[in-house]
Amino acid sequence: MVKVLEAENLCKTYVINKYQNNVLRNVSFSIEEGEMVAIMGPSGSGKSTLLYSVSGMDRPTAGKCMFMGREISKMNERELADLRLNEMGFIFQQMYMLKNLTVQDNILLPALESRKNKATRKEKLEYSRELMRKLEIIGIARNDINEVSGGQLQRACICRSMINHPKMIFADEPTGALNRTSSDEVMDQLAKLNREGTTIMMVTHDAKVACKCSRVLYIVDGNIKGEFNLGTYINKADLEKRERTLSNWLMELGW
Ligand SMILES: Nc1ncnc2c1ncn2[C@@H]1O[C@H](COP(=O)(O)OP(=O)(O)O)[C@@H](O)[C@H]1O
Ligand SMILES: [Mg+2]
Repeated sequence: MVKVLEAENLCKTYVINKYQNNVLRNVSFSIEEGEMVAIMGPSGSGKSTLLYSVSGMDRPTAGKCMFMGREISKMNERELADLRLNEMGFIFQQMYMLKNLTVQDNILLPALESRKNKATRKEKLEYSRELMRKLEIIGIARNDINEVSGGQLQRACICRSMINHPKMIFADEPTGALNRTSSDEVMDQLAKLNREGTTIMMVTHDAKVACKCSRVLYIVDGNIKGEFNLGTYINKADLEKRERTLSNWLMELGW
């Protein structure tokens, strides 16, 4: 299997008022093409820091990180910006979109900004509409972003993250601001994109969300304390069992 992401002995230390906070302590793991990996763990354990350190949003203090065989820990800011725009997609808990643009224009923007995306403007527009149809938000394409629900907005963020055909999506608590129904919808869409081939790494504190992932890494005090293989989520009928086995495992780890 092809490794999309490989982290080796990643460390991240913040120094505030001479006090050293070792947030990541020698973290090593890898993610293969087609996986959907959830990062779980107590609040403050370093989940977001880990996600940002391996996706070129932040720099590790030490250690090595490879993305598609290229060492991102050695790239300069420009190369990292290029990588994030063209080969990675990002989804956050807070849904950042430009207020004076429609949903569709927000989704289209990264494609228009990308010089690597060689499609014509018309093709980019068509692809944005294909994504909106897939995520079932085509009906709100022309809405202003404050005229849509939280769940619709997050699905729009997913469309935006996919617009430049990323190799991998990074998501930090993508369902954290949503109610149960919207959270389920967003997760079902992410799981579908994953089954179609997109590799995903996401942080979540919700076992109902994580049980739709294929593997869970549990992090405590900046270290991976355990990992659990669930296999790809395909059948809704398996969901209850997946959630039960995951919850039991999490409880054993002190969740
Ligand atoms: N930019 C920063 N500067 C200083 N400390 C930070 C910064 N970001 C995170 N931290 C600290 O790192 C630790 C882990 O944070 P984070 O990765 O956000 O945890 P989690 O996502 O697991 O809740 C916390 O103690 C937090 O205060
Ligand atoms: Mg966090």
